[in-house]
Amino acid sequence: VAAALGRHLALVGFMGAGKTTLGAEVARRLGRPFLDVDDEIERAEGPIWDLFAERGEPGFRQIEARFVREAAGRREPAVIAVGGGAVETRRLLDDLDVFTVHLDVDVETAWERVQGSRRPLAQDAVEFRRRHAARAPLYADASDAVATDVDGIVLAAGGVHVEEGALARLGELVPGSRAALVADAHVAGIHGAEAQLALGGRLATVHEVPAGEAAKTVTVVERLWRELRLDRGGTVVALGGGATTDSAGYAAAAYLRGVAWAPVPTTLVGQVDAAVGGKTAIDLPEGKNLIGAFHWPVRTVIDPALLATLPATERRNGMSEVVKTGLLAGEPMWELPEGELVRRCASFKTALCLRDPHDRGPREVLNLGHTFAHGLEAAAGFRLTHGEAVALGLLAALRISGRPTAEVERLLDPRPVQLDRERAWEAMRRDKKARDGQLRLVLLDDEGPVVRPVPERDARAALDELIRP
Ligand SMILES: NC(=O)c1ccc[n+]([C@@H]2O[C@H](COP(=O)([O-])OP(=O)(O)OC[C@H]3O[C@@H](n4cnc5c(N)ncnc54)[C@H](O)[C@@H]3O)[C@@H](O)[C@H]2O)c1
Repeated sequence: VAAALGRHLALVGFMGAGKTTLGAEVARRLGRPFLDVDDEIERAEGPIWDLFAERGEPGFRQIEARFVREAAGRREPAVIAVGGGAVETRRLLDDLDVFTVHLDVDVETAWERVQGSRRPLAQDAVEFRRRHAARAPLYADASDAVATDVDGIVLAAGGVHVEEGALARLGELVPGSRAALVADAHVAGIHGAEAQLALGGRLATVHEVPAGEAAKTVTVVERLWRELRLDRGGTVVALGGGATTDSAGYAAAAYLRGVAWAPVPTTLVGQVDAAVGGKTAIDLPEGKNLIGAFHWPVRTVIDPALLATLPATERRNGMSEVVKTGLLAGEPMWELPEGELVRRCASFKTALCLRDPHDRGPREVLNLGHTFAHGLEAAAGFRLTHGEAVALGLLAALRISGRPTAEVERLLDPRPVQLDRERAWEAMRRDKKARDGQLRLVLLDDEGPVVRPVPERDARAALDELIRP
């Protein structure tokens, strides 16, 4: 299993790291229960201060270990804040089926937060510092990943690594034995050599797929299957935009009944959307994405520096998804510097997908604006990019939601298109979100996104507004 998908997510870290506050927020985003082991202990056994006084630290650690095991033994995957000292109980976390994230904090900040509080181990500044230093290797040893904020914890939980310059560290970041590198033919010429170098001796084979959507065919995937030389312990590494990661991810999902894969997205669409969440697909002449599989990556390596070579039109496609994500999250993510923008958007999608890995509910909101976009794209063909279609779709979704559109107009400049209205309408009605003949759309209200049936008349009017006479 990859990361915390379907497993408990345990947070460890020093006193004052914020395990309780951040843990509760992570649990909310993942739609999971939150368990604070210290709270559980206090509820059942009384104040930790008294337990320390009565039984000393070793006695307390025994009680703590029992409560950690109890929490980790619960069936429903939860977020569990584990007391800062639990790592001192040797192998406690190793023996449990939990994904462990170390919530790191510098000693000054930690002391600032806890001094003067009633915590047995936070009474003396010198001793506090000594312990912080002594614990560092224990946390490193006990955890699968490190994070310093909510987005970082969520990304770690999804196995997503975001870092400027991460491509150069691909060899360390991609787990597994041998790796097959599958790259978009155009991207291979730009970033392929660095990827190969970073994988070093682990590299088994290198494969190029046609640039862009042409990678998503049965023929390309069949060729990959025939060329791959991995065994079950190998990993397919996919370097390119969403088309490459969709295609290589699908090849990995079926090869030997499934080998691990690690997307390394090189487009903005890929970094904030396509490479996150475990959906893979190829196209048929009958339609896009008709064949595919859910196959969560063993690791997603996002290096925002790779976007430096991205053409402007591709960047605009990505901005439509960024604006969509910001609208869903209720935060103007588009105002952030690019690296942070990528991290926040990727984290938002990771949380939704961890909640709903098989796209059966919560993840549906990611379709904001997309029902209209699909209709427009079907009727406009190559005259409309996906980004332009999504920008128009967002406009329509906001109008039906009765919300201001100025921001989307300023950021994405959506322009009404000339195309066959009936064709667009038919394609939109066929969209998979239609249930019992009712068109269901993702809309926004004050609380955030909602999925609602919309009268055909209103949807049709909103679509018509996007089309030039
Ligand atoms: N699986 C999912 O959840 C999901 C989500 C969204 C989109 N998608 C899929 O993603 C695909 C679109 O992906 P995309 O928008 O990333 O485009 P893409 O993969 O088609 O790539 C677009 C172009 O950009 C070039 N390119 C890529 N990275 C570059 C770089 N760093 N520098 C220079 N050129 C670069 C490519 O060679 C290609 O010509 C669609 O097939 C869509 O269905 C999948």
